[in-house]
Amino acid sequence: MINISEIQKDFPILNRSVNGKRLVYLDNSATTQKPRGVVEAMAQYYYQNNANIHRGIHTLSEEATEMYERARKKISKFFRARYPSEIIFTSGTTESVNLVASGWGDRNLSEGDEVVIFLSEHHSNFVPWQELCKRKNARMLVQNLNSEMEIDTKNLLEKINSRTRILVLSHASNVLGNIVDVKTIIHKARKINSQLRIFVDGAQYAPHAPLNLESLDADFYVISGHKMLGPTGVGILFIKREIQDEVSPIKFGGGMIKEVYLDETTLKNSMEKFEGGTPNIAGVIGMESAISYLENIGLEFVREHSLELLDYFFDQTSRYDDLVFYGTSSIKNRVGLVSFNIKGIHPHDVSAVLASEGVAVRSGHHCAMPLHKHLEIPGSVRASFYIYNDYRDIDDLVLALDKARKILKD
Ligand code: ALA
Repeated sequence: MINISEIQKDFPILNRSVNGKRLVYLDNSATTQKPRGVVEAMAQYYYQNNANIHRGIHTLSEEATEMYERARKKISKFFRARYPSEIIFTSGTTESVNLVASGWGDRNLSEGDEVVIFLSEHHSNFVPWQELCKRKNARMLVQNLNSEMEIDTKNLLEKINSRTRILVLSHASNVLGNIVDVKTIIHKARKINSQLRIFVDGAQYAPHAPLNLESLDADFYVISGHKMLGPTGVGILFIKREIQDEVSPIKFGGGMIKEVYLDETTLKNSMEKFEGGTPNIAGVIGMESAISYLENIGLEFVREHSLELLDYFFDQTSRYDDLVFYGTSSIKNRVGLVSFNIKGIHPHDVSAVLASEGVAVRSGHHCAMPLHKHLEIPGSVRASFYIYNDYRDIDDLVLALDKARKILKD
């Protein structure tokens, strides 16, 4: 039986106060807090093993290389990739998307080709594709939401034809929290166009539910380490083995070459060609520790816990008729986040009052301006939950919302 108060003890930051109040951290979709073990794994590496990897034949370098590659194996197993070499470490989701949009897109898109994408994408999974389409004179077809604020799968599939080069999906929206049935979409999309490549942004999904990259069958899948207890500066980019030759590196430098001549350079064949330069070794080691932590708890439990908190939040706020929620009304199709507005009050004003009460949420357009424009709102307030949050956090959020109403409406 997993006990949340035991989990909370692993996160020292939860003991601090903010503005004289208990910290209630509900901005987990932006970044989660880090357990002691993750910070200690990185400190231990620096204290005991620090050296560059894949270069030296001295003991520390061999140890560091071993630790880094062990992390890759562990992470590939956790996300059920077929091979460790399908996992590439980047600095984060933004770099991962840019690597594929430029490294794959510049080689594989031509004038008149099409990219199909969701309207609700985070800017980091929208702008790189928009820029690619501009560079290539390609068309970007944007799929809208239906009246249930869900992606209309039928409409989306109708946009795919023989000119479509890549379908860009997100597994869960960072504003709506909607989980998208990407597995079914991928299966149906491949039947329409077997040459299609499929890119999935899993930054908001992967922290909340088990993932099986092999059976999902995406060509590219990106994960943000810091949104699932890991350190900032570690992105996980999955590229299916068969597709890796279609992608050029976007960073050239040490560690990724086979041979360099005055007029020519040959690159390594494996995932190493995408990891030029000294990587974030300590960060990757911290990420392995974060994955071990989540493995012990089980992502099934993380999912269940988020849904309980969401359910409780909706229950505690059901008496208010001035709250507008965004996203699907089906809780089981959500990850653990909820965006909303109090009618007549700007979301930044709401979150400023919440902050004064020690409650940390995000407000604004959450890097998803096309979605907010479509919803015809300047922004929203977003509360996002993770494994250390409990019912008391929700109670404090609801009390702080009451205070915001009182101050800002009266
Ligand atoms: N992508 C992060 C968020 O949605 C930063 O807040």
